[in-house]
Amino acid sequence: MAGIGIDLTGKKALVTGGSRGIGRAIAIRLAEAGCDVAINYLRSRAPAQETAKAVEAYGRKALTYKVNVAQVDKLDGMFDTIQEEFGGLDILVSNAASGVIKPAMELTRRHWHWTMDINAAALLDLAQHASKLMADREGHIIAVSSLGAVRAIPNYAAVGASKAALESLVRHLAVELAPQGIRVNAISAGVVDTDALKHFSNRTQLLDESARRTPAGRLTEPSDVADAALFLTSPLARMMVGQTMVVDGGYSIMG
Ligand SMILES: NC(=O)c1ccc[n+]([C@@H]2O[C@H](COP(=O)([O-])OP(=O)(O)OC[C@H]3O[C@@H](n4cnc5c(N)ncnc54)[C@H](OP(=O)(O)O)[C@@H]3O)[C@@H](O)[C@H]2O)c1
Repeated sequence: MAGIGIDLTGKKALVTGGSRGIGRAIAIRLAEAGCDVAINYLRSRAPAQETAKAVEAYGRKALTYKVNVAQVDKLDGMFDTIQEEFGGLDILVSNAASGVIKPAMELTRRHWHWTMDINAAALLDLAQHASKLMADREGHIIAVSSLGAVRAIPNYAAVGASKAALESLVRHLAVELAPQGIRVNAISAGVVDTDALKHFSNRTQLLDESARRTPAGRLTEPSDVADAALFLTSPLARMMVGQTMVVDGGYSIMG
């Protein structure tokens, strides 16, 4: 079903945190639609290589690049490599995230900065770099957010605040970059059963509760987020600018 009428042949994409989970699904979906894909990751090379293989299985070019997106002085290397290998960039998906899952009363400044730097500030640096590689083409920047940006979720204060900052940054970038032909949007996903949930002590309860309360009758899957990303990169979304698209099967509209 995915990819109908959306042809991204020849486009070049970078997916941060593209080795596993939601990022992997987005990388593969973009490859399926025709993109060459750069897959960024932080620690584990093997999953990044697996995603690269899946991209190549669609006949596309893949490259993997290990860098912490919060290390601003190290980002040049990644974008230089993309320029050398791909000759430019059409799509940036800022998906990598981390964060300290603790009650607000236990958060230190170190926890706060770690979370903010990776989840929010990195988008600013990535967008500054990416927009240069998008100079002569129509570009897309998509940030992956979560419902914690607008809702209070137990132990999610740092991550929720970082996602709220991310969504605000998306709106500001969207206004600045729209005149250059770059559309910036966010996707806010419902609970998705990825490795990220292993950091939650109440993982099982979170999954059961989310599935039970979701009007669509199931949890959000990585492929649901990937389809939304594909839509945002397509001409079908040409008037979507600075928006946060919620992909959660209706979970967040429940009273
Ligand atoms: N899972 C959910 O329920 C859910 C819900 C809503 C939104 N989201 C959002 O969706 C996005 C992806 O989440 P996920 O659940 O797919 O996560 P995940 O399965 O834990 O995967 C995280 C990915 O990000 C990479 N990464 C982590 N920190 C990084 C850093 N500092 N620099 C570069 N790469 C880094 C990891 O690489 P390594 O494996 O090498 O460390 C991995 O590829 C995040 O923005 C998350 O907030 C998730």
